[in-house]
Amino acid sequence: MTEEFIQVADITDIEINQSQSVSIEEVDILICNTDSGFFAVEDKCSHADIPLCGGQIVGNYITCPVHGAVFDLTDGSVQSPPAFEDLITFEIKIEGTSISVKKPF
Ligand code: FES
Repeated sequence: MTEEFIQVADITDIEINQSQSVSIEEVDILICNTDSGFFAVEDKCSHADIPLCGGQIVGNYITCPVHGAVFDLTDGSVQSPPAFEDLITFEIKIEGTSISVKKPF
């Protein structure tokens, strides 16, 4: 397991309650700006492996734009069907305005 962080975005590029999809070594990661800060989850809904990008963010929660499953962005936990599996989450680091994500694998 590596401790390497990769710079992926800038906080000024992601407005509150918005998200941005980035890719690290072919893993798509969604950087989300919430009332509680920035979080990173795999950009793939656990229901049908479809991107979560564009899902509505309210508080700490994101709603899948496809079938409406809800996930807690703070820990990836599923909150509402039709998904039943949690999302993978990624550690992030913010230095200045720069957002880095811990290398997934
Ligand atoms: S693909 Fe996300 S709820 Fe179905």
